[in-house]
Order: sequence, then structure tokens, then C-alpha cells
Amino acid sequence: MRAVKTEILKAIKDEAGFVSGQELCDRFGVSRTAVWKAIGQLKEEGFQIEAVRNKGYRLLSSDDVITEAELMSSMEGGFIKKIVYYEETDSTNIRAKKLAEEGAPDGTLVVTDFQNAGRGRRGRMWVSPSGTGIFMSLILRPDILPSSASMLTLVAALAVYDGIKETTGLETVIKWPNDIVAEGKKLCGILTEMSAELEGIHYVVTGIGINANMTGFPEEVGESATSLRILTGGPVRRSRLIAVVMKAYEGYYVKFKSCGSLAGLMDVYNEHMANLGREVKVLDPAGAYTGKALGIDEKGELIVEKADGKVVRVVSGEVSV
Ligand code: BTN
Repeated sequence: MRAVKTEILKAIKDEAGFVSGQELCDRFGVSRTAVWKAIGQLKEEGFQIEAVRNKGYRLLSSDDVITEAELMSSMEGGFIKKIVYYEETDSTNIRAKKLAEEGAPDGTLVVTDFQNAGRGRRGRMWVSPSGTGIFMSLILRPDILPSSASMLTLVAALAVYDGIKETTGLETVIKWPNDIVAEGKKLCGILTEMSAELEGIHYVVTGIGINANMTGFPEEVGESATSLRILTGGPVRRSRLIAVVMKAYEGYYVKFKSCGSLAGLMDVYNEHMANLGREVKVLDPAGAYTGKALGIDEKGELIVEKADGKVVRVVSGEVSV
């Protein structure tokens, strides 16, 4: 059962005209005072709600709000069980791991409007300015082997690809293993972390950062990053994009769990993969080499054909275009 505030928000979002206070009371079995309190809280969160005597409440507009109530009322299906929203935090991955340690359920999504210590892969920082990007981390407790957890990163990449396509129409590519790229620049990064023992996983946290409404980037990332706003010329409603990504994630996750691998998702992943069939440089710590990218296998490893015809599988690491 969703919180009253979330239910009321959904009811006034779904209705073009007014919804009477009495109807809200009857529908959700709460008092007038409870409705009034929830409306007040929503206004504080940035929703413009018109209240007219004898008519009720009407949603005029909401800025690009991503509070718990807005996100919960935007979600479709029951995949996301709980949303934890922070106006500001260090890193949603750090928060999510802490919440998971404290028992947060499978399907908890941690979201913030501003990360003051956003983290990328390989210890890099992740630029996370206030009010513009999507910074979220999903807590899952899948019954899979720890060695399979990295595949969830590729599942997330597919979901982000779909979410961007559905909400903006933009065609992107996935740079193995998990960067979403358009016009050669990075739009999204994914960082998966887990806590496990030999026999099983306690939890997996998949952190997703999407450059949604940024209009520019600091010099450090400069030329290598872009945003949906820069590419499409218009603002993106972050709550909708988050909801669509989570819906897509659910579909892919179900398929992934039923196969126990990426066998059922390999083809779609390879379809979206940047530089499939083209030359890539594998930055192997033991020495970089070049080869032709043939796609991923069912474990999510990148299959590369070297110049001498030998076929190798890249388990992890960086591949440059
Ligand atoms: C990368 O380096 O490509 C991965 C970037 C991952 C960024 C996201 S933003 C939400 C979550 N919280 C973090 O601190 N990092 C991830």
C-alpha cells in the first residue's frame, strides 16, 4: 500500500480537472485533515496545487520534482517496493549500501537531487550537480552466484537505453560494458557493487547516473560528456525517465533471472552495442591489444577477434573506441 501522500498525488495527476477533498477522503479512507496535510506537504515539495472551495484540488504544474511521492506515483508495476529520496547526499551507492546493510528490501531505489561525492568506476568522480541529473541506486537481493552479479550492469544498460529512447526518442549506443553514449560522448554511467559470500549474494547495488538536464560540464570531463538536454534541445522530466528505466529494468531482470545468464538478452544488447564488428582497443593491464568486437556472450563477456585470428573473451576492463 502506497503512502496517502503518494496516492493523493497520483489521483490529482491522473485527473485533468478538480478532485474533491471528499472524494480523496472516501477513496483512501482518510480524514479531511489528512488530505489537507498531504496537499500541504506536496506544495512544499514543489507541486503547484490549486485549491478551490466546493471544487477541490487540481494539479497546475510541478517543476522537475523527483521526491519520493512524485517518483512513487510515477512508477508502473510493483518492481520498486520502496523509494528513499535525499535532497542532497554524498553518493546514492554509499547510501544504498548502508540501507541494504540495515535490511532495506529487494527493490529499494535510492535517489538524490545532488551528490556531493558522486563516484564513478575505477575511483573516478561522477559530476553530480544539483537539480539537473539522475543519480540513483537500486538495491537487489537476487538469488544468483556472486560471479553473475556483474551481468546486472549490462541489464541496467539495456534498461537505460530503452528509457532514453522511450522518453526522448534519442537513439544511443551501449559502449561495453555499461556506458550509454550518443554522438561519441557519454550520457550515462553505471556502477555495480555487491556484498557477498562464496555461496551467495547479500545484496547488489546498481548505481546509475544519467546526464539529463545539464547544459554544460566542468573542464575535467569536458569533451567526453554530454546530456539529453544538450542533444535534444529540451528539458527532460526526470521522474518519467526514472520510472520508464525501472519498468524496462524489471522486464529485462525477469528474463535474466529465468535464464540465469544473459542468454536471452545477448541479441538485443549486441544490436545496441557501439562498434560491433569494428576494431576496438582492449586496455588489458597485461598489455593493450586491438581486435574486432564480435559482441557479448551469455556471461556478458566481450568476444574479440585478434589480428592473428585468435578469439578472446574480455571479462572486465576498459575498451576504447
Ligand atoms: C562510471 O564511471 O561510468 C559509473 C558512474 C556511476 C554514477 C552513478 S550516479 C548514482 C550512483 N552513485 C554514485 O556515486 N555513482 C553512481
